[in-house]
Amino acid sequence: MRTSNCGELNARSIDREVVLVGWVDTRRDHGELIFIDLRDRWGITQVVFHAQYNQAVHKKAESLRPEFVIQVKGRVRKRPEGTVNKKIATGEIEVIAHELQVLNPSMTPPFELGGESVNEELRLKYRFLDLRRKRMVENLTFRYRVTKVVRDYLDHLGFIEVETPCLTRSTPEGARDYLVPARLSPGTFYALPQSPQLFKQLLMVAGYDRYFQLARCFRDEDLRSDRQPEHTQIDLEMSFVDENDVMEVVEGILGEIFEKCMNVELKRPFRRMSYAEAMDRFGTDKPDLRFGMELCDVTDLFRGSGFKIFDRVIEESGHIRAICFQPPPGVVFSRQDYDDLSTWIQDFGAKGLSWFEVKGAGQAESPIQKFFNPETIAKVIAHTKAETRHILFFVAADKHTSQVALGALRVRLAETYRLIPQDRFELLWIQDFPLLEYNEEEKRFQAMHHPFTSPQEQDIPFLETDPARVKARAYDVVMNGTEIGGGSIRNHRVDLQERVFKVLSIGPQEAEEKFGFLLKGLKYGAPPHGGLAIGVDRLVALLLRQESIRDVIAFPKTQKGTCLMTESPSSVSPRQLKELHLEIKT
Ligand code: AMO
Repeated sequence: MRTSNCGELNARSIDREVVLVGWVDTRRDHGELIFIDLRDRWGITQVVFHAQYNQAVHKKAESLRPEFVIQVKGRVRKRPEGTVNKKIATGEIEVIAHELQVLNPSMTPPFELGGESVNEELRLKYRFLDLRRKRMVENLTFRYRVTKVVRDYLDHLGFIEVETPCLTRSTPEGARDYLVPARLSPGTFYALPQSPQLFKQLLMVAGYDRYFQLARCFRDEDLRSDRQPEHTQIDLEMSFVDENDVMEVVEGILGEIFEKCMNVELKRPFRRMSYAEAMDRFGTDKPDLRFGMELCDVTDLFRGSGFKIFDRVIEESGHIRAICFQPPPGVVFSRQDYDDLSTWIQDFGAKGLSWFEVKGAGQAESPIQKFFNPETIAKVIAHTKAETRHILFFVAADKHTSQVALGALRVRLAETYRLIPQDRFELLWIQDFPLLEYNEEEKRFQAMHHPFTSPQEQDIPFLETDPARVKARAYDVVMNGTEIGGGSIRNHRVDLQERVFKVLSIGPQEAEEKFGFLLKGLKYGAPPHGGLAIGVDRLVALLLRQESIRDVIAFPKTQKGTCLMTESPSSVSPRQLKELHLEIKT
């Protein structure tokens, strides 16, 4: 139906007879002359309907409205002097039309496709229109490029892509499962995979060393701007490897993506940081290294100060940590600003927030300043390297809370006052994670990564006696404060896997019931193996600097897990329920 698309005609096409198809992007009616910007996913071409040139076609063009689908025949000509548009690839030419066919009219769109701040609900409801917008076309095209680069790169390294089932058993990645009732076995359910974890391990048992998959994963968890009920992973697994081998492949993948899709050369190897160091310096296991404001432990400086709140925390072996905030010129904190932060920080477990406004060498102003002698104040200011106008924020709490709360404040202040350079990509590995974390509610240990992660060799003797000190052979890759991937070396020996299950309070019967097939596999010559998965949605959103992963997914769900376009989830007919042996109790 066409000779060219709407993005490819240029000065070299002048005088060619062409046929174009596409959507009416805009129509400008100047009486004798009607201009149409004709759009498809490749670009925009200006089409001119000239009454003197062809009256019948000009007349027809008067009826055109945005989003009509049309076919135009015409001749390419140079745009008149002064009307060249350098911003678009076709900006030097226009097509003077001598035939026009309306292939399909369109209702008036509920929002302007060229509009900047369109309400997201409306965009999601009419996603088929939203996806016509330039930004969305660019996002999805970029996403495709990333996955193509990954597939080519892994192919070149000898990986093969193997698909694993979506109707399966529960795989524990720490979220709730989505369940699918099984019609043929009344009362039983499939679970949608939270990841292909167990299948990829069994592929290693089966000898398919160097597996990968662009895998869809399903997790029923609380949604945020970087979480969707279904997301895509670049999932990979390798045999006869250690941490360094897996990390090298992952750095290669990311290096290739940056080079081919961003034209940026990544420094490799990436920096590595232990979990303990990340928590200590940044209060998070996904530190954003694009800016400083590191946490500082000032417990010893406040010891015995006489300020009751601090003293009590110190007595209970807690910590007092500080960050030093440098307000940009003109920013002055009001009492209300401090109060708002003090309330906000309670969400992170801190009971409150204290602060010093530094007023000069060794001088500070603060509601709690009267509790400290001048030497203490001077020492704290010196230790934190705070200068005049800087604000020191303090949190006194147990070790973990003081880290997490101040880590969150560090990010909040940097975001609010735009202290984060937007043109940088800071990638790093976090390693030496604890194998387990204690779940206070359930009074038991749970896996920090997942239950198939191997403990570090030197810690194996302490699995049963001191589980909290055991470190994992796990590693996360972090970019600009977001975890974009995680993986580990697995337990390939069944005896070690069974010991880990035991520490996780998964008894032999439960282990057999839930993971019997994996344990069986491990008994039939499982090779040492490990892998990792990169979150595609998060990675692409970060590369494109999109605030939400919804903007890099064609048909995403809302924060409430609903699809506004298809209106799913939805109720089903009584007949369907009956076939599935289900009854809804209200
Ligand atoms: P993990 O659970 O760390 O590891 O997931 C890997 C990466 O997937 C992304 N991700 C998500 N993205 C969007 N929405 C979500 N709800 C979501 N959940 C996770 C993150 C994360 O780093 N089987 C292991 C991998 C392995 O051990 O090899 C796994 O799934 O970017």
